[in-house]
Amino acid sequence: MTKLKAAITGVSGYAPEYILNNEELSHMVDTTDEWIMTRIGIRERHILKGEGLASSDMGSEAVKLLLAKTNTNPEDVDMVICATVTPDMLFPATANIISDKCGITNAFSFDMNAACSSFLYALTVGQKFVESGTHKKVIVVGADKMSAITDYSDRAVCPLFGDAAAAVMLEPTTEDIGMVDSIFRTNGTGRHHLYMKAGGSQYPATHETVDNKEHYIYQDGKTVFKWAVSKMADISVEIMEKHNLKPEELAWLVPHQANMRIIDAVANRMGLEKEKVMINIERYGNTTSATIPLCLWEWESRLRKGDNIILAAFGGGFTWGATYLKWAYDPK
Ligand code: UT7
Repeated sequence: MTKLKAAITGVSGYAPEYILNNEELSHMVDTTDEWIMTRIGIRERHILKGEGLASSDMGSEAVKLLLAKTNTNPEDVDMVICATVTPDMLFPATANIISDKCGITNAFSFDMNAACSSFLYALTVGQKFVESGTHKKVIVVGADKMSAITDYSDRAVCPLFGDAAAAVMLEPTTEDIGMVDSIFRTNGTGRHHLYMKAGGSQYPATHETVDNKEHYIYQDGKTVFKWAVSKMADISVEIMEKHNLKPEELAWLVPHQANMRIIDAVANRMGLEKEKVMINIERYGNTTSATIPLCLWEWESRLRKGDNIILAAFGGGFTWGATYLKWAYDPK
C-alpha cells in the first residue's frame, strides 16, 4: 500500500483591527520605542477589543477564511485542533467553540497547550491522524488572545505580546511533499521561569490572586532568552543534520516570533541568510500559538511546491521543537 503523507493544503490568518503601537505603550509604562525595537524588535501588536470577545472569535475568523480558500464544506472536516494558551474558558475546549461557530459538525475537536510550541505540537498530532488514513481533512488553528493575560503595568512583559489567530488545513497525499519529520523536547524545570500562576487547580481564583496580579504572565526574561536561543538553534540544526539538509537547500525558516535577537541567533546557527527567514514580529509581536501559521499565511504567495521549510519554536514549559516539511502547492 502507498504510504500516505500529510500536506498543508491551505493557510489563513486573522488579526484584530486595533493596533497598539510603541508610542501608545510608552504612555502606559516607562518604556520607549527605541528600547522595544532594540531589545525585542516589535513596533506594534494587534489587540482584540470588545466585551466577551475571545480566542475563538479570532480562531473562527481564520477557520472560516480557510474553509473558503480551500473550498471545503464545513461538514467534511474530520478534526479540529486548537493550539492555545488563552482558551475562552478552562472548558469546554476552544476548538469545540470554533467548530460550532464555523458549522463544523462532523469533527472531533480538542485543544493543545504547549505554550509557544503549541502550534508545532498540534500540527504533528494532526499529521499523524492524516498519515494513519483515518482522517482526511484536519484543521490546526493557533489562536491566542495574549492581551487577556498581559499586565499592562509591567513594562518587562507588556511590549512582547499580541493577539491573532491563523490556521492550516492538513490533507493526505501520496506525492513526495508535505510533512516530513519533527523533533520535540520538553524540560519541566522551565516551568518556574514562564507561567501564569493562578486560575488553575493549584491556585483557583480568589480576591487575593487577583490583587497579587497572579492571573498575568510571569516571565524571567533573561533565563527564557538564554534557553530559547540555545534550544531552538540546537533542534533546528539537529533536524537539518538528520535530513542532510544544507543551508542552500532550505527555502525558508519559519521561527516562532518572540524576539528578533532570538530569531537572528537561530538563523545564524543554521547558516541561513536573513532573506530566507520569515519575520513579521515587528507588526504582530508574539502571538504565541499563531506566530508560525501567521507567517505561512503572509508568505503564502512566495512559497513554491517542493520548497524545503523548517518551522521552529520555543516556549514555556519549557517546550521546543522543529518540524521539517516540503511545501505542497504553488501560489493559487
Ligand atoms: O515566546 C515565549 C518565549 N519568550 C521569549 O522568548 C522571551 C525571552 N526573553 C526576552 O526576549 C528578553 O529577555 C526580554 C525582551 C523580555 C527582556 O530583554 P533583556 O535584554 O533580557 O532585558 P532585561 O530584562 O535584562 O532588562 C534590562 C533593563 C533593566 O533595567 P536595569 O535593571 O538594567 O536598570 C530593565 O528594567 O531594561 C529594563 N527594561 C526596560 N526598559 C525600558 C525592561 N523592560 C523595559 C522596557 N522599557 N519595556
